[in-house]
Amino acid sequence: MSTQNIKEVVKEKYGQAALRLIKGGSRCCGAGPEEEGRLDPVTANLYDGGDASQVPEEALLASFGCGNPTALAELKPGETVLDLGSGGGIDVLLSARRVGPSGKAYGLDMTDEMLALARENQRKAGIENAEFLQGEIENIPLPDHSVDVVISNCVINLSADKGRVLQEAFRVLKPGGRFAVSDIVVRGEVPKSIRKNVELWAGCLAGALEENEYISKLTQAGFEAINIEVTRVYRAADARELLASKGTDIDEIAPLVDGKFVSAFVRAMKPLG
Ligand SMILES: C[S@@+](CC[C@H](N)C(=O)[O-])C[C@H]1O[C@@H](n2cnc3c(N)ncnc32)[C@H](O)[C@@H]1O
Repeated sequence: MSTQNIKEVVKEKYGQAALRLIKGGSRCCGAGPEEEGRLDPVTANLYDGGDASQVPEEALLASFGCGNPTALAELKPGETVLDLGSGGGIDVLLSARRVGPSGKAYGLDMTDEMLALARENQRKAGIENAEFLQGEIENIPLPDHSVDVVISNCVINLSADKGRVLQEAFRVLKPGGRFAVSDIVVRGEVPKSIRKNVELWAGCLAGALEENEYISKLTQAGFEAINIEVTRVYRAADARELLASKGTDIDEIAPLVDGKFVSAFVRAMKPLG
């Protein structure tokens, strides 16, 4: 799939999801199905009661992430935060609360329907120090050295040019700025054909990075103090239904995928000097 095609497929998928939510329907069809009371192992229960109570229910329902970067990013009052691929806005709204009125939280997303949903959630939350920008994470519409913290929640794996995204994150960060991102990461080798099916299940259309590749791309972009902390490990059984519907024998491939796809918190810093 070409870079442009990946963007169109991602836009279509999240545009439809946002429209369903705007119309008051179910969230369904994010990373995985949530019909009939089944919980999606990637997106379920990411926010504790304290965080959940700080945003409108609609923002929580629109969460398609795989972690809670705002809980791990150690945001301080007065800081400027940028969320790459802000979706329905949950992490922007939580960040805006954490940095307070002297700080600012930006959300960046390329999908108009998601931006509309996020702005509506901002209005319901009554939050003023947040702003949602239209654009691509590969070309961030903010000046150099303008942001203290870059966060993101399960979006970088969707980009067809992850190196460029990390370079852009580095560019907009101030010296000493932090990169604090939740993402799907692959640990070790997974055969290509099988990886494609599992990524479809996990919603990673363009492909999750293997953890050493992630570290190498962050290093190439200029980051230091890089750390990858696993927050959730996916077992082969989590993807059983989808793989079975694709005609894949789950018992045969289990040893090849079991525990290799994880949600992780990826931290790094832009050097001071
Ligand atoms: C998996 S959802 C995550 C949304 C949000 N971070 C959350 O935790 O709920 C992916 C979001 O990223 C946006 N997105 C994906 N690729 C993008 C890109 N290259 N540039 C800008 N936005 C992108 C999609 O429009 C969608 O809203």
